[in-house]
Amino acid sequence: MKKTWWKESVVYQIYPRSFQDSNGDGVGDIPGIISRLDYLEQLGVDVIWLCPVYESPNDDNGYDISNYQAIMNEFGTIGDWERLLQELHGRGMKLIMDLVVNHTSDEHPWFVESRKSKDNAYRDYYIWRDGKDGKEPNNWASFFSGSAWKRDEATGQYFLHLFSSKQPDLNWENEKVRREVYDLMTWWLEKGVDGFRMDVINLISKVEGLPDAEGDGKYNFGGEFFMNGPRIHEFLQEMNREVLSKYDIMTVGETPGVSPGEASLYVGEDRGELNMVFQFELMDIDAGPGGKWNVTPWKLVDFKRIMGKWQVELDGKGWNSLYLNNHDQPRMVSRFGDDGEYRKESAKMLATLLHTLQGTPYIYQGEELGMTNVKFAGIDEYRDIETINMYKEYLEAGRAEKDVMASIYSKGRDNARTPMQWDASLHGGFTTGTPWLKINPNYKEINAEEALRDPDSVFHYYRQLIELRKRHEVIVYGRYDVLLEEDERIYAYTRTLGEERLLIVLNFFADPVTFELPEAVAFDSYERLIGNYAWPEEADPRRLQLRPFEAQVLKLN
Ligand code: NOJ
Repeated sequence: MKKTWWKESVVYQIYPRSFQDSNGDGVGDIPGIISRLDYLEQLGVDVIWLCPVYESPNDDNGYDISNYQAIMNEFGTIGDWERLLQELHGRGMKLIMDLVVNHTSDEHPWFVESRKSKDNAYRDYYIWRDGKDGKEPNNWASFFSGSAWKRDEATGQYFLHLFSSKQPDLNWENEKVRREVYDLMTWWLEKGVDGFRMDVINLISKVEGLPDAEGDGKYNFGGEFFMNGPRIHEFLQEMNREVLSKYDIMTVGETPGVSPGEASLYVGEDRGELNMVFQFELMDIDAGPGGKWNVTPWKLVDFKRIMGKWQVELDGKGWNSLYLNNHDQPRMVSRFGDDGEYRKESAKMLATLLHTLQGTPYIYQGEELGMTNVKFAGIDEYRDIETINMYKEYLEAGRAEKDVMASIYSKGRDNARTPMQWDASLHGGFTTGTPWLKINPNYKEINAEEALRDPDSVFHYYRQLIELRKRHEVIVYGRYDVLLEEDERIYAYTRTLGEERLLIVLNFFADPVTFELPEAVAFDSYERLIGNYAWPEEADPRRLQLRPFEAQVLKLN
């Protein structure tokens, strides 16, 4: 594998609305982020991924953009943004921006024009169709409930919106649209950004004719007609030729529904498309037949199979991104660990996994503190459009409120979006005003100030893991070999690069368990590199008594 800076980096994701407020309006902002850069530098991360900060009516918290070349008022000014970039670069850190170009806001001037008349110069920037028998043009469901089409009064035609009705999909078949996108990307790159995270980028090419989806619902998931569509690779290769290839940057595409085979088309090193994708296979592990909200228990053997598949199938072909949560997913410690008694141990165990696999690790804000999911009393306390729409739809369909709330507690996106917990003062030091979304009541116990003070904290463990990665090339580039694949409680694997070999052993549960090293893994001596419990003097890597959520990383010689 070719060596590059973005393979050796650790990325930290900031959701600006919830990171740090500087002016008391209850909404995080760019000056707030700048005031916390020392903290991020101390953690040791290399790259910041900033979720959208562009002008937006905030129907979907900035993922509905009304001006790609302006900063949202609530977040500050372009001057603030320039200062952020300068401060980051001054610290040797990089900045990647969120690029949301599957759709815009319906308040974007292109759409404002587009909806005016059928012969408007911008009409073809979006996807307009006539209705069929007084109904929508097809039966596709929106990701945010209901139909993916909305009828517009001015012309009587419908426009496509895979997300909210305030997020009309752009028509990538139109060359002018592609040109506009390449131009705005170039504009940011000329300002000095170091790359892009590309929102749902594998949805931009739709199958001609937009056929009906299979299914017996009123609206059905039409993924096969817009995920990895017919022209997707042509579009991305064009984007790479026109823009990306001209800069030394990193790109990561968000690509729901891709398999490792498909992913290698996006990230194959000789294909001239993207550097990495975010795949969702692991994120779907606890979804039942009814989808994301139909929460079902997950099994460690499946978890390992999914992780391993991506490790092995992309090895030597393309690069993995590694994440266990983000602004759309529940907190990893609540989902895959234990957010009660063993919160710290399990947060560290999961971190050990994330930081010892092949790929680039992404830390979502607050993960380094072991922040947890939240349970607000009722729907009125929630802000996320996906959650609110689902709640209404499910209640109208006759589901019990308590079941719907239970789904929200385990899967709702606001779990990840509660404000960053900086200290034990009111609202956790996030704002002096009223936060736009309530803080998790556990902030008095779980916060950055406490974590910085405690040498044994989750934060300091992350710092050490990041340091370790910088010292051992095998962590970045080494081959992955799973051990004890069928074990239901232990996740163990080796990483090998030339002469260097690491053994990673993780107890995924609260019960103690004995790890027996397969004989095939021979060694003369070992060095213990990191772990979330002290290494007992008498411990033998061939037969380890693992404590609750124990993680150990050994170098085998
Ligand atoms: C994926 C983003 O991560 C999510 O937050 C957003 O709602 C959708 N794409 C639509 O932009």
